[in-house]
Amino acid sequence: MKRIGVLTSGGDSPGMNAAIRAVVRTASHHGMTVHGIRHGYQGLLDGDIIPMGPRDVGGIINRGGTILRSARCKDFYEPEGRKRGAAALEAFGIEGLVTIGGDGTYRGALALEKEHGIRCIGVPGTIDNDIGGTDFTIGFDTALNTALEAIDRLRDTAESHDRIFYVEVMGRRNGFIAMFSAIAGGAEYVLVPEVPTDVDELVRSLDRARLRGKRSSVIVVAEGGDAGDAATIAKKVAERSVFKEYRVTVIGHLQRGGSPTAFDRILAGRLGMRAVQALAEGQTGLMAGVDGRDVVLRPFSDAWEHSSHYDPDYAKLMQILAL
Ligand code: F6P
Repeated sequence: MKRIGVLTSGGDSPGMNAAIRAVVRTASHHGMTVHGIRHGYQGLLDGDIIPMGPRDVGGIINRGGTILRSARCKDFYEPEGRKRGAAALEAFGIEGLVTIGGDGTYRGALALEKEHGIRCIGVPGTIDNDIGGTDFTIGFDTALNTALEAIDRLRDTAESHDRIFYVEVMGRRNGFIAMFSAIAGGAEYVLVPEVPTDVDELVRSLDRARLRGKRSSVIVVAEGGDAGDAATIAKKVAERSVFKEYRVTVIGHLQRGGSPTAFDRILAGRLGMRAVQALAEGQTGLMAGVDGRDVVLRPFSDAWEHSSHYDPDYAKLMQILAL
């Protein structure tokens, strides 16, 4: 393989730039050239494709976002769109593709491979950590630490005013950011999409905490829960309890930006490098991921067929340490 393409697709995540850098420089190491495809699959359809050499990815390892830009492209869901994409790849002499993103990115890559024989290897990049087949996705650790910093700050003011603070964090489909930031931030309670919300139990828990001498509480709420957003839940709790004095903070897209942590940069380097090596070996239809200490290659379908939820032991840990 002489020339490969690289794109970032779906929601951006801190560490995507480090992954692009790893792809470009590993390809150069293997004597391959790289073209960057801008704005994800949309750029592929539009022919928004640029050559990238090792110097083009200098000074980006510490930058959040993605220098290639990202997009969610509806046209690529259709065979006609993928046909246009395959034609663009052929026009630029691109024989293989590294796709950095979430499971939607892999579905597109899988279809491109099946319909047009383009070799594709995925790299998991999303803050949600919601991709099966890898222990961690690039960007999760940074987003987690951003959420944690917010929780730490909110705890200061919660304690000063004896208040209840609800902190809404991202996570549409799983509670990774919520559960991990709640444990690390010493929160009193966490609500996650994996567990049906029981407002009465939350009220009882706050009551018990008060009887144990706690004068303030931090409650972390994942955005994807079944009982609505943090503000809705806070209102319900206030209606059913003595806890009328509360504040709600939604951290939102702050979690998507910022300089990646060392963990995310190294993860991006390892997975980006493995993805290019896989293409050089002639492999396709796989995602580079981590399993324990090892870098592994897993079928794209693992991304959506395998569980990407936190281990239930974390819930137990949270409960005991919140005492
Ligand atoms: O998938 C990453 C993510 O940040 C989710 O946590 C969040 O629900 C969603 O993207 C937000 O999407 P958008 O940036 O399109 O508002």
